[in-house]
Amino acid sequence: MKIAVLPGDGIGPEIVAQAVKVLNALNLDIEMTEAPIGGAGYEAACDPLPAATLQLAKDADAVLLGAVGDWKYDQLERHLRPERGLLRIRKELNLFANLRPALLYPELAGASTLKPEVVSGLDIMIVRELTGDIYFGQPRGISTLPNGEREGVNTMRYCESEIRRIGRVAFDIAMKRRQDGQKAKVCSVDKANVLEATELWRQVMIELSAEYPEVELSHMYVDNAAMQLIRAPKQFDVMVTGNIFGDILSDEASMLTGSIGMLPSASLDENNKGMYEPSHGSAPDIAGKDIANPLATILSAAMMLRYTFNDEANALKIENAVKKALAQGYRTADILTEGCKQVGCNAMGDAVVAALN
Ligand code: IPM
Ligand code: MG
Repeated sequence: MKIAVLPGDGIGPEIVAQAVKVLNALNLDIEMTEAPIGGAGYEAACDPLPAATLQLAKDADAVLLGAVGDWKYDQLERHLRPERGLLRIRKELNLFANLRPALLYPELAGASTLKPEVVSGLDIMIVRELTGDIYFGQPRGISTLPNGEREGVNTMRYCESEIRRIGRVAFDIAMKRRQDGQKAKVCSVDKANVLEATELWRQVMIELSAEYPEVELSHMYVDNAAMQLIRAPKQFDVMVTGNIFGDILSDEASMLTGSIGMLPSASLDENNKGMYEPSHGSAPDIAGKDIANPLATILSAAMMLRYTFNDEANALKIENAVKKALAQGYRTADILTEGCKQVGCNAMGDAVVAALN
């Protein structure tokens, strides 16, 4: 198994080092090779996605990514900015299916800003389309109008095949998640009352649902979904949505679980080749201080074993080790509650490794 390891910027290197440590502790037959991306790519090769990094990622079976971005690159031309590297690698590898599970560990119920009874037992899977929508739609750009005023343009667009393939991922996951006899549920999130691109989204989801009679499909406008996620998040099982709505809703969902530092993600292509990264950003303000929470990245490594390498046993082993470390009271600053042991990024990685056995 070949893994391309792309630490990126900010806290990226620290958190990725913890996930690598956990993978190494499992003694699997894996070969890990590091390469720069984002601001680190710009520093190394004047390109947020250096050609060598892209080639390494293409040749690998899976990619483990930290995070990209730093304020110091905000003044660069758009195509040189760190975020471009991330968007390009998603597109180049055709990683259209982004899975972001928001799972509340019982030990962290007190770390959420919501009341424990609202979030306890929470287990949502957000399925976000990742290579289309307003993120990639043409035309786009900033230009000057004849009257001399500047105009910014982006285009929201989805074609049927893009909607159908992400819909399938969501329905398939919903069926796998419900093996307890309860009905599998998919909630499709759109803004079909205003945006044609998402009116089509809703139509295609309804057509597709005919192939999945076991799954109960519902629809929700994105503004309502944002509200319902805070009001009664446990009504959701699988949520499926487009790129931009998924970006926003997954940040929101992460806070239900106590901290965005807990939310892993998988981005998959048609063949389950994938890139695995925490859902959070590079947090340059706390970089290099050994205080970042590495659990989202460690849990992303578990998703890698599950989805790309079909190794459910070791995926569970990592997830159980994270639970055990939390049960033992280890907490990074972002999830700290009274009576727990505050540890840094590196020590949290060690606690998970120790809990593997
Ligand atoms: C995410 C991030 C990225 C996105 C940024 C860094 C480009 O917010 O993975 O959610 O918007 O997709
Ligand atoms: Mg985001």
